[in-house]
Amino acid sequence: MTNERLPQTIVAVTRQPSASLARCELLHLPRREIDYAQARRQHSRYEDELSDLGCVLLRLPPAAELPDAVFVEDTCLVLDDLAIVARPGVPSRRPETEPLAGLLGAFRPVAFIEAPGTLDGGDVVRLGNRVFVGLSSRTNGAGLEQLAAHLVPRGYTVHPVSLNGCLHLKTALTAVSPDTLLVNRSWVAAEAFAAARTIDVHPDEPFGANALLVNGTVLHSASHPRTRERLEGSGIRVRPVEFSELEKAEAGVTCCCVLFDAGLPPRR
Ligand code: GLY
Repeated sequence: MTNERLPQTIVAVTRQPSASLARCELLHLPRREIDYAQARRQHSRYEDELSDLGCVLLRLPPAAELPDAVFVEDTCLVLDDLAIVARPGVPSRRPETEPLAGLLGAFRPVAFIEAPGTLDGGDVVRLGNRVFVGLSSRTNGAGLEQLAAHLVPRGYTVHPVSLNGCLHLKTALTAVSPDTLLVNRSWVAAEAFAAARTIDVHPDEPFGANALLVNGTVLHSASHPRTRERLEGSGIRVRPVEFSELEKAEAGVTCCCVLFDAGLPPRR
């Protein structure tokens, strides 16, 4: 037996938006009319980009009565050696997790965040073995403690991060390379990430910090062209995607998928 990995197959879990998206949860944004047909088209093109970047799509069944179900990122976390089914911070979103244990159990052992803990996957940013957890209105101390209890014995370090003025940690900060973070410093204290290289969003684009790294390319909303210039100027390969309708639901490009390597984890 060797220690080699099989060629990497990246799975992208997605779920198409439903017309109930108009009733989505909102925290910091005013409710605006969402063009549902356009949201479907934008989501479909986003899935096409994921496929084009080498992902194998696993589409969860549509959930007509769950307005935020398209935002699968918040339902779980998948690490190299463990999947964790989250417990979203708002009750309306908790039924979204129902199909996850079955799906993820085909790839990883599965653990759960349990009451009174709450945790939204959008509050978790991983850089190697460092896992940063945003203490947002959706993720509480009990959720953080449960997550740490699962991860620390597996060699991860878990770092709580305070947020100010945004929904999730990934609204304020995402990884755009294995050692580079794209950040909006007005929503998160960037000193918490001192060891990482950082790129700041353009000041006119506060929501520009949400980017999705897929196989060395970053998907980034076309709504933030000045931040895209900064990324490209720093040597990051970027593909812009139209995301305007999903953004009205207080979402970014990371929210609509969960990415993980389908292969077996490396032996330790
Ligand atoms: N609409 C996204 C959320 O509030 O979870």
